[in-house]
Amino acid sequence: MTNIIEVKHFQKRFGQKLVHKDVSFAVRRGECLGLIGGSGAGKSVILRSLIGLERPDDGEVWVDGTEITHLRERELLPVRKKVAYVFQNGALFDSMSVYENLAYPLREHTRLSEDEIRKRIFDQLEEFGLQGNEGVFPANLSGGMQKRVGLARAIIMEPDVVLYDEPTAGLDPYNTKRIQEMILALKAKGKSAVFVTHDMPSAFAVCDRIALLLEGRIQAIGTREELESQPGGRIGRFINGEEL
Ligand SMILES: Nc1ncnc2c1ncn2[C@@H]1O[C@H](COP(=O)(O)OP(=O)(O)O)[C@@H](O)[C@H]1O
Ligand SMILES: [Mg+2]
Repeated sequence: MTNIIEVKHFQKRFGQKLVHKDVSFAVRRGECLGLIGGSGAGKSVILRSLIGLERPDDGEVWVDGTEITHLRERELLPVRKKVAYVFQNGALFDSMSVYENLAYPLREHTRLSEDEIRKRIFDQLEEFGLQGNEGVFPANLSGGMQKRVGLARAIIMEPDVVLYDEPTAGLDPYNTKRIQEMILALKAKGKSAVFVTHDMPSAFAVCDRIALLLEGRIQAIGTREELESQPGGRIGRFINGEEL
């Protein structure tokens, strides 16, 4: 199976509004697929649907060979171990130190000993340049550091797929670069990813292909070169920040 994720004819309505008319795309194994589109296009709903936090009204979502839209909560647990969702704001627990935040999923979902947990956390912090922050509470971290710790926590369970929801939004160039490096390091380990963003330089830096979600459909999908050479120029204009 070359595709780790397949979304087929995804349709979803909120009230009167048909947000997703017919969304289809696939993520290849080991690929980082960018997902771009204006605010309200439906990108976050798609990401949440990949771990069963939302369900389409119609269509299919396949994760590593399993169709997940009809699974029960309990049946979704293995999917959520395989696929990590990095929340927009990092979603750290305010009352816990960085160390406790990273330990939490390991204590909840694995049988690792405290020594093993400690090793995994220190390895992870060091790998992402976060060492020395283990005793700090989220409120005392900058926004950029919170996002980096949030990402470190999301992947501490060693998922196969990582879903990033605007991980660089609002970040300064230094932290944006650090996040890009984290994403590239995970890609080098063979992880697959979906990267939702408005930050085109980051998308170009980390994505193998980019998909444009607009008006309820994937209007185009391909490498930067393929998208920029599309006839009509609409896609090229979108990714260059021009009005359509
Ligand atoms: N739980 C919800 N209830 C009502 N409307 C929702 C809900 N979630 C999303 N929507 C609507 O669906 C559209 C797409 O949302 P979203 O996926 O968050 O967009 P994006 O991430 O592309 O900015 C928005 O117009 C939003 O108002
Ligand atoms: Mg969103």
